[in-house]
Amino acid sequence: QEDALYSIIILGASGDLAKKKIYPVLWSLFRDDLLPKNTSFVGYARSKLSIDDLRKSFQANCKIMKGEEEKFFAFIKNNLYISGSYDSSEDFKRLNESLNEREAKTNAGNRVFYLSLPPFVFDTATQHIRENCWGKTGWNRIVLEKPFGHDLESSRKLATHLNSLFTEEEIYRIDHYLGKELVQNLITLRFANRIFNPAWNNHNVASVMITFKEPIGTQGRGGYFDEYGIIRDIIQNHLMQIFCLAAMEKPVSLNAEDIRDEKVRVLRRIAPATIENSVFGQYLGNPTGKTEDEKMGYLDDPTVPKGSVTPTFAALVLKIDNERWEGVPWILRAGKALNERKAEIRVQFKKPDGDIMPGTGAKRDELVIRFQPNEAIYLKMMTKTPNSHFGMEETELDMTYSKRYEGVVLAEAYQLLFLEILRGRQIHFVRNDELEETWRIFTPLLHQIENEKVKPIDYEFGSRGPRDADRLLAENNFIYTGTY
Ligand code: BG6
Repeated sequence: QEDALYSIIILGASGDLAKKKIYPVLWSLFRDDLLPKNTSFVGYARSKLSIDDLRKSFQANCKIMKGEEEKFFAFIKNNLYISGSYDSSEDFKRLNESLNEREAKTNAGNRVFYLSLPPFVFDTATQHIRENCWGKTGWNRIVLEKPFGHDLESSRKLATHLNSLFTEEEIYRIDHYLGKELVQNLITLRFANRIFNPAWNNHNVASVMITFKEPIGTQGRGGYFDEYGIIRDIIQNHLMQIFCLAAMEKPVSLNAEDIRDEKVRVLRRIAPATIENSVFGQYLGNPTGKTEDEKMGYLDDPTVPKGSVTPTFAALVLKIDNERWEGVPWILRAGKALNERKAEIRVQFKKPDGDIMPGTGAKRDELVIRFQPNEAIYLKMMTKTPNSHFGMEETELDMTYSKRYEGVVLAEAYQLLFLEILRGRQIHFVRNDELEETWRIFTPLLHQIENEKVKPIDYEFGSRGPRDADRLLAENNFIYTGTY
């Protein structure tokens, strides 16, 4: 609608996520003219801040090129800040009045409520938003970030609460991995190419591994991390979203519900993860490390409870009990304080039947999709060594984005997700039943390691993680061939 107004309300505007991610992303969208005209930004938090304080809190995280200062000034002019608490109707009513005032001239006032808040205020804040701030002239959408509970039961409780206030169409659960270019490309690769689909099954695939590695430790956020651990922080959400897109059947259409139906369907065919099929690790400081972070072990972080057994590394195996995937191990592996930053999926194919070149060292074909950094899709395959008599070597069909799309800057996950929220498209957001299924898969394991205080294996900051994880890969038909 021509005269529609859009308000993006950031609850928790003075917090870390808002400063580091949300405001810088909003600025970049504004700068590139990607937002609908008539969009304004309304910060809400407890601290008493002026607009100038707010600007100072995030400006350093914004990329402002020469010549863009005026535009940045215009961006700041579109900002409003309201100080209020998360449990006061009065304060939320004030927020609403200010939104109404701005919308007085339109009959389409659209509101996005972005909750950049700690989980213990989710319930009250959402209640107040619904009761006091739900706009009457346009649409309203509510955006939430993990954690969505900490196990199946608490996640269900949150879902029941949210569903009593909002419809599923109004709820946007962010998993920022779904905003990454190469994660989204999984759908195109699999379903827009004839070549992959016939090979994408247990007749041809030996094993699949999805990896997340980070070369940083808790960096003082240990207190937060310790309540969750690597399974809740990375595997149950980010890696499972990649898993779903890689393993699901072809959706009926690109419609959000059709895609999410398929994700749920494949999740329902997975038995809960087990301790027998898992390896857990916790990092130790590296005395020769270059930074303080590297020197500090997980348990040396003063915000981590003494003697904590929370894993900072986990590798585990899931099996999908359906016609396509029966017998194929899916290995999920994630860790902090490792040797590098990397997120990728590796699909290892079986060797060809009826090998006519025995003894020549043919290796498995392997399709690698690297989500970050240095985004790439490459296929490791055998080829004849030039000029030899059927000598063979492994080579790569390599599509590295920086070469193939030289000069193209890939959008940041959050940029893309914000635009999707404004468009009202939920493809790249997590539906409640997906969330429930992923919790079902991990809750028994999480409860067991917590109840039995299962001790993780030590690994050194900057290493590849516990060696035992390599054993798990070998046991699950994954042949270690590279540097991962
Ligand atoms: C977040 C986790 O969800 O993802 C962090 O809470 C992690 O612990 C981050 O560092 C990784 O995101 P990315 O996009 O940098 O891979």
